[in-house]
Amino acid sequence: MQGKRSKLIPAAFVLMLLTVALEILPAMAVEAPADDAQPAQAEPPRTMNGLALTPPMGWNSWNKFACNVDEKLIRRMADAMVSSGMQDAGYRYIVIDDCWHGERDRDGFIQADPKRFPSGMKALGDYIHAKGLKFGLYSDAGRKTCGGRPGSQGYEFQDALQYARWGVDYLKYDWCNTGTRNAQEAYTLMADALRASGRDIVFSLCEWGNQKPWLWGKTVGNLWRSTGDIYDKWQGRQKYMLGMLDIVDINESLWPYAGPGHWNDPDMLEVGNGGMTETEYRTHFSLWAIMAAPLIAGNDISRMDETTKRILLNREVIAVNQDALGTQGRRVAKNGDQEIWAKPLADGGRAVLLFNRGEQAAEIAVGWEQLGYPRHLSARLRDLWKQQDLAPQVGRYTTMVEPHAVVMLVVQP
Ligand code: GLA
Repeated sequence: MQGKRSKLIPAAFVLMLLTVALEILPAMAVEAPADDAQPAQAEPPRTMNGLALTPPMGWNSWNKFACNVDEKLIRRMADAMVSSGMQDAGYRYIVIDDCWHGERDRDGFIQADPKRFPSGMKALGDYIHAKGLKFGLYSDAGRKTCGGRPGSQGYEFQDALQYARWGVDYLKYDWCNTGTRNAQEAYTLMADALRASGRDIVFSLCEWGNQKPWLWGKTVGNLWRSTGDIYDKWQGRQKYMLGMLDIVDINESLWPYAGPGHWNDPDMLEVGNGGMTETEYRTHFSLWAIMAAPLIAGNDISRMDETTKRILLNREVIAVNQDALGTQGRRVAKNGDQEIWAKPLADGGRAVLLFNRGEQAAEIAVGWEQLGYPRHLSARLRDLWKQQDLAPQVGRYTTMVEPHAVVMLVVQP
């Protein structure tokens, strides 16, 4: 034994030296001279996919159609996104939420429901892309989706590959039926799978805020839901669903965590679905815009009245949401039901909301110091809903705000 070993060690040692030399020598040969040496590059953050540098804009099937999705509906929505002017206003993603799934095939690859999507997902993706739009799908980190369809747990890499083959550009990834899974681990696994698919896919985490995704989501995905599901009411709670204002009050405090490529997601828009007044929908849209929230319409965009269009297509409000600085606006003052919100803009201006939650009209005044400006400045003002320039003001601006309404301004010193 001893003799055998003493012969083996030198052989292994020589082999090791050879391996090391083979690795080192080529690297040494191309090494730059010391004075040109670059500092070692840190590993880029794992989700630096370069996507969603401004909050994603699009349409999603869930709020209006729930499980009633099929290829005819999705094509109609893609057509409407173009013909309504939404595409020109910046909306891009057509996202099919839950219930598009059929079974997995013999090899485990997920298929679309053949009755609802007889032409298949690749054809639907092609249709969407031919219009210059982008294609989004939904899955779930558990064994089943919330609607009981096959989830991605255990099939992450296969599903990501299949989505890439279909031309998917956006994945919303839900959290039903996940048992004791750790959210950060589960979402990281799917992030790795999406990256390995070789396709650029915006990753939308839908974990409802349970495991504080704002603390870790930035290195995993592009947006993360911060609350339970929205429902089409001004205020209130029903099981896991929250009214618009209840969502706002949770999402507001998370402003430090948002930025280009990584957004808090207070859920999709209800504008046009009928449960709020026109004023309330304008407030809803303004709050989503100033919070740098994803603007994902959730109504039937093929049958919009003029009021709904005027809200969803207000380009000046959208410009606040899409501002390149990517700061989430926040509440800077509150006096009972009267609030002032501000969002710094890339050009040094501020988007401002004068927001009256109350049941009576109220006067609201914003002082420049509340916006981080010296009092003595004269500032130009633009009312984004009236689409009018107002007279320049020094120090402050005061106006009446109707119940449940906002006055939305851009202030420029
Ligand atoms: C969860 C999500 C919703 C929607 C449904 C689909 O409730 O939070 O946004 O995707 O599942 O079943």
